[in-house]
Formats: sequence, structure tokens, C-alpha cells
Amino acid sequence: MVITGSSKGLGLALAEQFLETGDAVVVSSRDKSRCEAAAADLAARFPGATVRAFPADVSVSEQAEALADFAAAELSRIDIWVNNAGAVLSLCSRLDHQNCIACQHSLWPS
Ligand SMILES: NC(=O)c1ccc[n+]([C@@H]2O[C@H](COP(=O)([O-])OP(=O)(O)OC[C@H]3O[C@@H](n4cnc5c(N)ncnc54)[C@H](OP(=O)(O)O)[C@@H]3O)[C@@H](O)[C@H]2O)c1
Repeated sequence: MVITGSSKGLGLALAEQFLETGDAVVVSSRDKSRCEAAAADLAARFPGATVRAFPADVSVSEQAEALADFAAAELSRIDIWVNNAGAVLSLCSRLDHQNCIACQHSLWPS
């Protein structure tokens, strides 16, 4: 799964919760060092878990796409995408929107 804006705050708390239940998580935020530090801390606290870091500004579509490419390659597939830092509507065709948390479903194509 991917959680945007997960180097701190609610996104980081969500990452912790999903790791506790066995999910593989890609941590992402704009600042590379904060993003990587958060992922390293989570990896240390959840031994054996799959935790990856990828810096991306989700307001820049190319960076959001690069995050999706990275996650798909690292995790084999993206089951869940949490738009904590903001919706990434350009990615909707690549995702099962029923698994997108915090999206306004009325904005998604049926
Ligand atoms: N906390 C609340 O009570 C509350 C209530 C209602 C709604 N919300 C919403 O929930 C979300 C998270 O809130 P929070 O309190 O956890 O915020 P926060 O502590 O400020 O954390 C925000 C996270 O998002 C990242 N981020 C910010 N802009 C980004 C962007 N353009 N692209 C990628 N990552 C970005 C930040 O890291 P970088 O700076 O490294 O990018 C950080 O990891 C926000 O959308 C907020 O509006 C929060």
C-alpha cells in the first residue's frame, strides 16, 4: 500500500497501523531525508515488515506517477492508496477506487 504524506502526523500513524496488521507500506512525502528517516524508523520498529521510502510531491503529477511506478515495482501491486496528502485523481485509472481511502468517490469515473 501507499500512504502519501506519511513522514509524520496522521500519515505516519496510518503507516504504523497498517504495518501492525501485516501490510507492506511505501512511505512518501516531499522531503527526501524526512521520508527516508520515517521509513527507517518504521523498519526498525517492525522487523520483517516491508517498508519502502519514495519522496514525491503529489501536487506534481509526474512525481505522483513516479511514486505509483515505484510502489508497483517494489510491492508487485498496489492494493491500497491512501490520499493523506491530497487526492491524485490522475492515477485513478491505475487503481481499484474501492480501495482508495479518503477519496471523494463522486470525483472518480464509474
Ligand atoms: N491533524 C488533523 O487534526 C487533521 C484534521 C483534518 C484533516 N487533516 C488533514 O489530514 C492530512 C494530514 O494532516 P497532518 O496533521 O497529519 O499533517 P502533517 O503532520 O503536517 O503531515 C503532513 C505530511 O504530508 C506531507 N506532505 C505535505 N504536502 C505534501 C505534498 N504536496 N506531497 C506529498 N507529501 C506532502 C508532509 O511531509 P513533507 O513536508 O516532507 O512533504 C508530511 O509527511 C492533511 O491533508 C490535513 O489537512 C488533518
